[in-house]
This record gives sequence, structure tokens and C-alpha cells, in this order.
Amino acid sequence: NYYAIIMAGGIGSRFWPISRTSYPKQFLDILGTGKTLIQNTYDRFLKVCPKENIYVVTNENYAGLVKTQLPDMQNSQILTEPVMRNTAPCIAYGCFKIESMNPDAAIVVAPSDHLILDEAAFISAIEKSLKVASEKECLITLGIKPSRPDTGYGYIQFTDNAINDEFHKVKTFTEKPNLELAKTFIQSGDFLWNAGIFVWSAKSIVKAFVRYQPEMNEIFAEARSVYNTDGEKAHVHKAYQQCTNISIDYGIMEKADNVYVLPSEFGWSDLGTWASIYQLAEKDYVGNAVIPSEKVIMYDSSNCMVNVPADKLVVLQGLHDFIVVESNNTLLICPRDQEQNVKQVVADVKTKF
Ligand code: GDD
Ligand code: MG
Repeated sequence: NYYAIIMAGGIGSRFWPISRTSYPKQFLDILGTGKTLIQNTYDRFLKVCPKENIYVVTNENYAGLVKTQLPDMQNSQILTEPVMRNTAPCIAYGCFKIESMNPDAAIVVAPSDHLILDEAAFISAIEKSLKVASEKECLITLGIKPSRPDTGYGYIQFTDNAINDEFHKVKTFTEKPNLELAKTFIQSGDFLWNAGIFVWSAKSIVKAFVRYQPEMNEIFAEARSVYNTDGEKAHVHKAYQQCTNISIDYGIMEKADNVYVLPSEFGWSDLGTWASIYQLAEKDYVGNAVIPSEKVIMYDSSNCMVNVPADKLVVLQGLHDFIVVESNNTLLICPRDQEQNVKQVVADVKTKF
């Protein structure tokens, strides 16, 4: 009864020009491991549930990429969205469809673009969570010990009240707080980051939609009779026109009163910034991280993050603390401490070219 849903419809604009609307981060081998992030995600879930029970929810435009990168998946396992409406509709579509086929399903929902270094610890955390989720009506999220007041995460405050001494009842869930609030959370010490990986039974998540997103519930519940028929696609098109654009974090997790967190440690990174990639990548003795490294030559350069096509000859002379990235005939050179500005660059580039 175990199922997995991989969310793969985001665009990852901070990694421009490597990640672009036409080729987002989850479809890239951003760390140079030989597999793309979504391939690694899929491989991890093969160890948790049968391959027929793994679903990907993605934009129509990326269905081809999913098929190419995950050739073992059947078309019926690739759920496509006509427009981006954030993670709540994506999760509703996947979970309601699974519920229509197997009301006793327990489902893990995960992003497609994260790094997990300790796979055994990850699998054990997911298996434990699926078991608890099958037995109790609750929404489980995996929590990571925070290391800085990052405003890009959800913050979870938990209580001592726990299932099996491990799954702590969540007191508050605050999605993307402002910096001041994030600092208070970090100082207080009893907060975890939301890893964005959720586990619940099909029944529990449907109930949560009924209660906290009644309109979305109606839209997707109505489709129960058409899932896995010829009518599915047309219905989903209509459904997405009607859906609000909201993430599961704002739409359900902040509101629900039956959320539990499993504090976890499995070498997690959401690879959200070049800084996080740089931190994880292999570096030479002066701190240069180069992916791939064969044709990059560096003189008197240090602490640079270089990510260029394998056949590109690149020379760096006297460059320190820079990001140098080339992809699709587009080159970005940017001081490492100014990478936050790249999001703005992307918006500008789109209007000009
Ligand atoms: N199918 C589909 N459709 N997938 C989507 C959509 C969509 O409209 N929007 C985003 N996704 C996918 C992304 O590709 C990614 O794999 C995942 O859903 C999460 O979306 P993000 O956009 O990356 O969310 P976030 O990073 O801002 O925040 C979430 O993750 C954080 C941890 O990395 C939240 O859950 C936070 O609370 C959490 O801390
Ligand atoms: Mg993310």
C-alpha cells in the first residue's frame, strides 16, 4: 500500500542559466554525479515501494524530459499539469488519483530536486513514517536541524508529545518567515526546517483538503470517476483553470492541527543556492569547485564555483570567490556573495531577449 509522488513542476530560477524554464534544476546533474536530481530521487523511492506505485507530477512541457530521464515509468504514472499552480494542486491531483485507486494507500510526497547523502537513513525515516501514517490520521513532515535563519524554508515548532518517542506533535508551522522572525526561531532552539517531504495516508490528506481547501477538494474529488479514463486529461485541464495558486505549506500545513514531525538527519540539502552546491561539491586545495573539471584551467584563482559544458575550454586567471556558469550559450559571471541577485537578472533577461 505504499506510494510515492515526486513533485517536478517547479522552475528553479536561482540557477539560471543552468536551470531555465525549458530545463529546470531537477533535470540536471547539478553536482556532477552522473545522474540528474530526479533520477536520484526516483532511485531512492524504488527502495521504498514497487515501481508501479511511483508517480511524477509535472508540467506538460516537462513530460518529455521525465520520459527520457525515467524510461521505466509508464505514461499513466506521469501526471501532467497544464499550468503551474504551486504544490497544493500538484499534491491534490496525485493524492486524489491514488486514493481513487487505493483508499488504503500511504503516500510519501517529495521534491524532485533535493540532495540526500545518507540514503539508508532516508529510507528508514520514510518507511517508519509510512507505517505511522497508515495507522494514524496525521500529516507527517520530515524536519531538519536548521543552521542559519534562512527565509526560504518552513519552520516547525514541535512539542514533547510524541508517537513512538519519535514523531513529535507540531505546535506551529510557519512558512517562509521574514528574517527577524527566522532569527527568533533559530535562537529559541526548538524549531526545525521543513524538508518539504511529507508522508500521510490517502485518507488523511483528502480529509485535510476537505477541511482547509474545500474548493480544491471539490475540484479534485469530482474527478474521482474520470481518473484513469480518457476523460482524465480534459478534466484536469478544467480543474487547473479553477485552482488557486498556493503551496501545500501555506494551504494546509500551516493550518492543520494533526501535523507531526520526524526530526531527521540524512545529509539533506535542497540545493537551493550556488552557495549550497559549492559547499557540497568537491573542491581543490584552494577551494575551487569545478564541474566538470577536465578542460578548466585555473591560475592564481581560489574559492570559485565553476560549472561549464564538458567540452568548453575555460581559463581563469586571478579570480577569487566567483561563480562562473555557462549553459545554453549563456554565460554568467558573478561574485559568490551576490548570487541572490540572479533571480532579478532572470526577470530582466526574459523581458529583453
Ligand atoms: N508539479 C508541480 N507543480 N511541482 C511543483 C510546482 C508546481 O506547480 N511548484 C513547485 N513544484 C515542485 C518543485 O519542482 C520542487 O521539487 C517542489 O515542488 C517544492 O517546490 P519549491 O518551489 O522548491 O518549494 P520551496 O523550496 O520554495 O519550499 C518548500 O521546500 C522547502 C525545503 O526545500 C516548502 O515545503 C518549505 O516549507 C521547505 O522548507
Ligand atoms: Mg525548493
